[in-house]
Amino acid sequence: MSFNTFGHVFRVTTWGESHGPALGCTVDGCPPNVSLDETAIQYWLDRRKPGQNKYTTQRREADQVRILSGVFEGRTTGTPIQLMIENTDQRSKDYGEIAETFRPGHADITYWQKYGIRDYRGGGRSSARETAARVAAGGVARAALAALAPGVTITGYMTRMGAHGIDGPRDMDEIGRNPFWVPSAAAAETWAAYLDELRKSGNSCGAEIEVSASGVPAGLGAPVYGKLDTDLAAACMSINAVKGVEIGEGMDAARLTGEDNADEIRLGNDGAPVYGSNHAGGILGGISTGQDVVVRFAVKPTSSILKPRASITKSGQPTEVVTKGRHDPCVGIRAVPVGEAMVACVILDHLLLDRAQTGGQRGTIG
Ligand SMILES: Cc1cc2nc3c(=O)[nH]c(=O)nc-3n(C[C@H](O)[C@H](O)[C@H](O)COP(=O)(O)O)c2cc1C
Repeated sequence: MSFNTFGHVFRVTTWGESHGPALGCTVDGCPPNVSLDETAIQYWLDRRKPGQNKYTTQRREADQVRILSGVFEGRTTGTPIQLMIENTDQRSKDYGEIAETFRPGHADITYWQKYGIRDYRGGGRSSARETAARVAAGGVARAALAALAPGVTITGYMTRMGAHGIDGPRDMDEIGRNPFWVPSAAAAETWAAYLDELRKSGNSCGAEIEVSASGVPAGLGAPVYGKLDTDLAAACMSINAVKGVEIGEGMDAARLTGEDNADEIRLGNDGAPVYGSNHAGGILGGISTGQDVVVRFAVKPTSSILKPRASITKSGQPTEVVTKGRHDPCVGIRAVPVGEAMVACVILDHLLLDRAQTGGQRGTIG
């Protein structure tokens, strides 16, 4: 029984805790001869690492990745790839007080009820430190995608921070220019003021993140239990603090008519189908259409806040929790590279599954 592994062919097992000596992952099933080194993986880890600006936790971790196996002379060998990231800035004393207390909104109470033992330091296994391992695995997936499906690009961005969405058109060039990965300079300004205010008042907010994968070939995914959307939803839902996942129109599809929702199809000049819209989020019947695959997920507000919250101790006494220590005022910001990594892993996994089942064979149109 394994609860720490995901993927069918491209299989990722993560390990480690927030305040242990190190964390990491084992990536099994990566094709051989993919060009890969630590620098390539580090590029993606640097986008997630904490302490980069005042809007993320001030825990200082270099998140330096080491490849321990599976790569020889800059190429994957087809054997398990072991990646390790050392924890260097643990401050376990920040968590001494909560050894006996269950923090509201955290996994403290459920881990205790289930296992009767928990590493309470920094949330232990439930800490978002674990997501560094996902991003490292995503770096491997991206390297493999670059080799096998070079047209695929995967971009994550925030579309909501708490009370604020994006007014006006999206400008994708803005994503890398602000601390929120938001495709709008105007929204970045509004969000900064909003988050400053929340931070000062000791509060936090939730977020909505969208990940768009373009260049995904038609034909990835399978009926019925192997749907591409099923695996994308599971992968994104497994990220800490994620409470909702949508594909394409998602929940809003319930409000549309069939006429509004069904994406019209015509034959393009190059003989490939062209869709008039993308309400389906690039997936029909669990199989990619060739349009952008669009996944959206909602992240709950950071639970560790300075505002007092009622709780109970392990012995059942009522208490009040005020969380000091270092925290993200909006978890969603650092969840963007994590969402991208999960989507990269799932798309590569389905590319490999498709190669195994169909060998790339396709029905023709026209
Ligand atoms: C990138 C990232 C950073 C996070 N940082 C924090 C944090 O600083 N403080 C906090 O209370 N929760 C943080 N979380 C959320 C907790 O890890 C999560 O809420 C907790 O483990 C309980 O799990 P659940 O929300 O999935 O039920 C973060 C999550 C992610 C994905």
